[in-house]
Amino acid sequence: MMQAKEYLCDVLIVGSGAAGLSLALQLAEQAQVIVLSKGPLREGSTLYAQGGIAAVFDENDSIASHVDDTLIAGAGLCDSTAVQYTAGHAKAAMEWLIAQGVPFDQYRDEDGSLKYHLTREGGHSHRRILHAADATGQAVQITLVAQVKAHPNIRLLENYNAIDLINGRKIGRDPKQCYGAYVWNKSAAKVELVRSRFTALATGGASKVYLYTSNPDVASGDGIAMAWRAGCRVANMEFNQFHPTSLYHPDAPNFLITEAMRGEGAYLKRPDGSRFMPDFDERAELAPRDIVARAIDYEMKRLGANCVYLDISHQPKDFIIEHFPTIYAKCLSVGIDITRQPIPVVPAAHYTCGGVMTNLNGQTDISNLYAVGEVAYTGLHGANRMASNSLLECVVFARAAAQRILSQLDSNSELPALPVWDDSRVSDSDEEVVITHNWHELRLFMWDYVGIVRTNKRLERALHRVELLKREIHDYYSHFRISHNLLELRNLVQVAELIIRCAMQRKESRGLHYNLDYPALLPDSGPSVLQPPQ
Ligand code: FAD
Ligand code: SIN
Repeated sequence: MMQAKEYLCDVLIVGSGAAGLSLALQLAEQAQVIVLSKGPLREGSTLYAQGGIAAVFDENDSIASHVDDTLIAGAGLCDSTAVQYTAGHAKAAMEWLIAQGVPFDQYRDEDGSLKYHLTREGGHSHRRILHAADATGQAVQITLVAQVKAHPNIRLLENYNAIDLINGRKIGRDPKQCYGAYVWNKSAAKVELVRSRFTALATGGASKVYLYTSNPDVASGDGIAMAWRAGCRVANMEFNQFHPTSLYHPDAPNFLITEAMRGEGAYLKRPDGSRFMPDFDERAELAPRDIVARAIDYEMKRLGANCVYLDISHQPKDFIIEHFPTIYAKCLSVGIDITRQPIPVVPAAHYTCGGVMTNLNGQTDISNLYAVGEVAYTGLHGANRMASNSLLECVVFARAAAQRILSQLDSNSELPALPVWDDSRVSDSDEEVVITHNWHELRLFMWDYVGIVRTNKRLERALHRVELLKREIHDYYSHFRISHNLLELRNLVQVAELIIRCAMQRKESRGLHYNLDYPALLPDSGPSVLQPPQ
């Protein structure tokens, strides 16, 4: 067998979004780091984030209030230690981003001093969101990419898919240790090996498991599926967040209309122009997004409407264009002038609140394996993530994980030899259509049966289908050579199963999980934790 290419490093980071790049930069003064991204370096949910990042910068606001708002949005299921930790470290994390060069919007106060402009979003009781107009994620991603490219200790492997982690079981050692990963070099169409002292998953979320999503294509839950296969617990996967307002237009799929627009006064309206949110919640358009998404879903189903409308046209034109330049331009490009017309919107899968269980240092059940960012379940979000707490979590936990890894770097020096990937028994795929068909089928039934409103019967139907698909995909994976779509599909089907199993475990409706057969809240409820197969 030909020797496969091997890379060695102190820390392998799988993922180049806000979590992965923040972690890389905080390690690189003292460690040799490899960062993997399965597409271009900048591609990931981070690039598309609009609203901003929550942190207490206003003197009338407080960390206690940020904590309280997060706990309320999380519908009783947040881990309060994780919430305190995150809110307490938010300002320092943002100051670190600012020091990297992220250009958050500023304005000159009446006394002439420069202040950060803070916007408002659902669930927040104060203006608390640092932002760069309506393209905050782009500002963060571009800044961090420039920094990692300039760092001599960071090696960037673009267009490399991590396939599977290599734990001790593979080499007759402790299965609770990770020694690196098999990675697929897309340009060379070859499986290669990365041997690492520490490995961190920063692969983002899994919203692509749903037919309609605000997420980019890379969000296929790879890190969650890899960690599960390697023996890590996974929690709260039933809490997939649906963003209430994604643009409804055939020429602009997946385009988000930021919640900050409701924060700046936009109204949600029925097709006849009447407002409906005040009928559902006293916070109206500024209720947490699970409530808003369900209200939209209810109104659409009740009226048989394809969409509802978000209307900010009552605000001055200059104000709208200054605050929402990206959305203004995008909508105009498809013929909607948001300064004069309401925007057609629908909910779309947006954020994975559950994930790989970690402690406050980002450590998983495998001691030298970390998970940071949307891939992780830290306990921060509970049953519903509050807007703009996600990028915050990426940066806060990247710092914590970096500190923990650096404190252990000297004591973990082992890089044992690892077996190379064996593809001697597979051949080229004969029917790619199986992959495209299964891909579509999976995302469709997840949308129909495991979406905003669930029932026991729908979940059972979904589980039955996912089990069939899983067998078929496993069979395909064992016989045919790897492709990008096959790797993603294998992970998506695994994550779909985890979502359904968590949803079936929960015998109540709470936060983002709404089951018509269990409409009530249970008095004592905790996270839904799944134990991996031995
Ligand atoms: P990502 O930024 O998604 O990066 C994932 C990385 O992992 C990518 O580099 C990808 O290539 C890589 N990857 C994945 N699988 C593999 C693999 N197998 N091998 C190699 N590489 C892999 N949150 C906020 O807090 N505020 C907002 O305003 C906000 N707005 C949003 C708007 C939109 C449209 C979307 C989609 C999300 C928004 N969010 C927002 C959520 C937030 O953007 C994400 O939760 C956050 O960016 C996730 O960052 P991450 O680093 O964990 O993952
Ligand atoms: C948005 O801008 O509405 C998204 C904010 C978020 O997902 O946190």
